[in-house]
Amino acid sequence: MLQIKGLEKAYGNFKALNGLDLEIKKGEIFGFIGPNGAGKSTTMKIVSGLLTADSGEAYVAGIDALKNHKKVKEKIGYMPDFFGTYTNLKAIEYLEFFASTYGILGSEAKKLGMDLLELVNLQDKYDAEVDGLSRGMKQRLCLARCLIHNPDFLILDEPASGMDPRARFEMKGILKNLRDMDKTVLVSSHILPELGEICTQIGVINGGKMLYSGTVDEVMEQFSGNAPLKISVLDACDKAMMILKEQPSVTKVRATENQIHCSYQGDNYEITRLLKILVQNDIPVIGLDKEVANLEDVFMKITETTDGEAI
Ligand SMILES: Nc1ncnc2c1ncn2[C@@H]1O[C@H](COP(=O)(O)OP(=O)(O)O)[C@@H](O)[C@H]1O
Ligand SMILES: [Mg+2]
Repeated sequence: MLQIKGLEKAYGNFKALNGLDLEIKKGEIFGFIGPNGAGKSTTMKIVSGLLTADSGEAYVAGIDALKNHKKVKEKIGYMPDFFGTYTNLKAIEYLEFFASTYGILGSEAKKLGMDLLELVNLQDKYDAEVDGLSRGMKQRLCLARCLIHNPDFLILDEPASGMDPRARFEMKGILKNLRDMDKTVLVSSHILPELGEICTQIGVINGGKMLYSGTVDEVMEQFSGNAPLKISVLDACDKAMMILKEQPSVTKVRATENQIHCSYQGDNYEITRLLKILVQNDIPVIGLDKEVANLEDVFMKITETTDGEAI
């Protein structure tokens, strides 16, 4: 659905995108994750045909997004990271207005508008003024607007930003609905946990470059590959530490209570080897885990060392 290669974009002498690669297959919910200023919005605007790139390639469903802005807009529903003001406009009128820009009018527009309001759980608010809606509701209304022309591919820029936990939860449900509708979604966030659960793939961007991408598990594995092991034992903690220290692959060992933190060099086979040695020496091992506890830790670690790059 989307192929980006070596995308570059500078604002003045600041390089916001620095050779970005990104690929999204049909039906994926791709979480585009990175701190503020990483280049997420810039990438999304270029793909949506709203901003020109300096160099590189971007194809949406085979269409050159850098050249055919009009054609690519038909394929994409783009939800920006801001929502304008619409004085004296009701939610349903707002959708009818945008439907009219696609030539959908009258009762057809009303029906479509109501269906879309239902999809984003705003059916009760059809008669409410847009400016009076909460931020979360505005975001969802904006999402409904993006679906008017029934695009296959949705680009959602920080759809959950500024929302309270309940609204975020609802947004997650809506993303699941989109997945069930067979849409492909590129969704960005500077906060990771809210995307980790729902996305089929994630990409971590920083300094205008994709640092890691893959399934959540792959990204975790790639990054936390050599994270220290947490080995829980019933007792014999001192003996276990002594055995581990003797192993050539082990670089550091420390213990808290009956839990041993062990740094090592090697792959997953090395972990099984270490475990086997402990068990063969009658150490009552009751648990083994890697120390990187969650996706958020991984994200913090990935992004803490890199920064935007000036030309
Ligand atoms: N119109 C602009 N003019 C100058 N600098 C910009 C402009 N838009 C974005 N930038 C800069 O480019 C970098 C990437 O911005 P952006 O793509 O909005 O990042 P993100 O969406 O990941 O927060 C940031 O450092 C930002 O300050
Ligand atoms: Mg942004």
